[in-house]
Amino acid sequence: MDNARHYMSGFGNEFATEAIAGTLPVGQNSPQRVAHGLYAEQLSATAFTAPRGHNRRSWLYRIRPAAVHGRFEPFAGAPRFHNDFGHGPVTPEQLRWDPLPLPAAPADFVEGMYTMAGNGSPQAQQGVGVHVYAADRDMRGRWFHDADGELLLVPQLGRLRVATELGVLEIEPQQVAVIPRGIRFRVELPDGPSRGYVLENFGALLRLPDLGAIGANGLANPRDFQAPVAAFEDLEGDFELVAKFQGHLWRAPIDHSPLDVVAWHGNCAPYRYDLRHFNAIGSISFDHPDPSIFTVLTSPSDTPGTANVDFAIFPPRWLVAQHTFRPPWFHRNVASELMGLVHGAYDAKAEGFVPGGISLHNAISGHGPDAATFEKASHADLSRPDVIAGTMAFMFETRAVLRPTMQALQAPHRQDDYRRCWEGLRRRFDGGPDAAR
Ligand SMILES: [Fe+2]
Repeated sequence: MDNARHYMSGFGNEFATEAIAGTLPVGQNSPQRVAHGLYAEQLSATAFTAPRGHNRRSWLYRIRPAAVHGRFEPFAGAPRFHNDFGHGPVTPEQLRWDPLPLPAAPADFVEGMYTMAGNGSPQAQQGVGVHVYAADRDMRGRWFHDADGELLLVPQLGRLRVATELGVLEIEPQQVAVIPRGIRFRVELPDGPSRGYVLENFGALLRLPDLGAIGANGLANPRDFQAPVAAFEDLEGDFELVAKFQGHLWRAPIDHSPLDVVAWHGNCAPYRYDLRHFNAIGSISFDHPDPSIFTVLTSPSDTPGTANVDFAIFPPRWLVAQHTFRPPWFHRNVASELMGLVHGAYDAKAEGFVPGGISLHNAISGHGPDAATFEKASHADLSRPDVIAGTMAFMFETRAVLRPTMQALQAPHRQDDYRRCWEGLRRRFDGGPDAAR
């Protein structure tokens, strides 16, 4: 399915692509008449005056403008998909969930969305929504856009074929896709029943982290990000456009496919990335670097070095550090950490954290290896390297506390006894040399 001919490489590049030759205007964006009777339309993903290095916009040349659709009314087809993160107390307890069950009744990607947690709001233009989807049928005659934030899709079960206004992205587990705010798309499920994670970013656009002392290469390399080439549908019928706007879902009738962009140019585009291309960097002497070393993409906040959200992964890698407890030690962070597992096993937990599951360790909540992992790592032979193979875990790490939704707290698939995984960590203190014998 990985057909590189249909993608253009680079992160945030100025791309130009046309499905019909001769469509793109030369030397200007908005000619008096666009070739082939198309309309010109600009999509801006940043403020007009955002610094050049962060400015994102694209020009679309399409059969009909995005303005052409019927009246919007509330959409009731996805009641578990929202931004209601509550206003009451948030438990400081460590939380964990089993995978969201696959749908009992047929559900497409939008209908199968289930909001787990979040912070901030679309109105505040900061924070995130964290969702999972469990779906088993293609979106048919229905397109969706999220006016509240860009969407990072992290499939865990089944491939996704994401047909967008700007072209088609195909991804499989261990690949991710980012759909810019407002881009209309349809999700098809080539493998049938499918599940995955979705980060909805209300804040500054996801970008590659600065590399500092690492240098010019490493972590996620720009050339491994891929945007689709232009592809359009010329369809008319009795269709539906679903929109998420200010935390609520709306629907409008539409008499044509909105995926009618024949050509586009610009640097606001959906893209995909294969997590297996991530160049993991870690300790080759001793000790354990902070997980920021695994950052794939970051959405900065107004405070330097303090992200609205970081997307980090824990891919296959060698552990070679000596004199070192090799899994992450116990820790409490000012940031809040929501973890998911795409594939395999995570090295800091012996059991209970399964592919499709989620753990949530909010600000200053103590966590770390469970008792079984602690025992094993405390007595591991450090004279030889360990390889962590066949795994792909990830983390959405946010500046603000992630508030679990009421449905997530009350869900049957929540593990009510998660904190007990640390109960086996018995007192080991020997009292020191002056202890009574
Ligand atoms: Fe952690």
